[in-house]
Amino acid sequence: MKTKMPSQSGNRLVVLGSRKAGKGRVWLVGAGPGDPDLLTIKALKALQGAQVVVHDGLVSQAILDLAAADARRIGVAKRKSRHSYAQDEINRMLVAFAREGLEVVRLKGGDPFIFGRGGEELEACRAAGVECIVVPGVTAALAAGASAGGPLTHRGVAQAVTFVTGHAASGGEPDLDWASLARANQTVVIYMGLSTAAAIAGRLIGAGRAASTPALVVENASLPNEARIVTTLGALGEAVAGLAGPALLIVGEAMALAQASDIAAAVIPSTTQAARA
Ligand SMILES: C[S@@+](CC[C@H](N)C(=O)[O-])C[C@H]1O[C@@H](n2cnc3c(N)ncnc32)[C@H](O)[C@@H]1O
Repeated sequence: MKTKMPSQSGNRLVVLGSRKAGKGRVWLVGAGPGDPDLLTIKALKALQGAQVVVHDGLVSQAILDLAAADARRIGVAKRKSRHSYAQDEINRMLVAFAREGLEVVRLKGGDPFIFGRGGEELEACRAAGVECIVVPGVTAALAAGASAGGPLTHRGVAQAVTFVTGHAASGGEPDLDWASLARANQTVVIYMGLSTAAAIAGRLIGAGRAASTPALVVENASLPNEARIVTTLGALGEAVAGLAGPALLIVGEAMALAQASDIAAAVIPSTTQAARA
């Protein structure tokens, strides 16, 4: 089923489709890893039609600037150890704005359903009888692999890719299936793993993955300050020292193809890039 998009005519919001007047909606939108050029067209349209934008800490200013000038922007930063809003407060906020009849964009870094707690927000909307439309985004792993030229799957070398969290809900090390992640010829992408990198590497090696397995660390993927480090599983703990994130750790044989940041990143010759220069 096609969802009708809200659109903008001058500064006035025009809502297309047969939606009942006065009924608000929540758009759960993936903002991608940071580079505005990695937004989907659907995300851009939702943003341009929003009356309220509720965004988290990983969404860049350049992306927030794409929303209508008169849209209300509310930051609900949920960075590790600095929760400015609890998840249930955010859920209630989204429902309350939609009940006021507003077009609400909940803008989240990457993809809303990859370590983004998007499922909880969707459930809250459903429970409240509020329409919620999910717009996928480019998750950080895809941007990191693309920048470095490190394919997450690679014929004959990486037949599977697994996204895991490096951070346990209760703090500390995550409880993962190390034996399965330690098997060769697969890529393991670790989100939120900076503080547990050494411990995770130790677990994987302990479970049988070779310490010489190629590894890639990408900080601020897709952003102008992106940094890429090519290393090995055995040296992963040392490699992340001094990084402040956000960063991804990618472990697997296919990362032998990845290139570190000193190799000039490709520049996309587009009108938006030229305009930004
Ligand atoms: C709460 S998770 C959100 C993931 C997001 N929903 C996604 O799909 O990319 C936050 C973690 O994602 C990773 N991350 C997000 N943006 C990133 C970026 N631009 N570069 C590297 N890692 C990023 C980091 O591991 C960070 O700690």
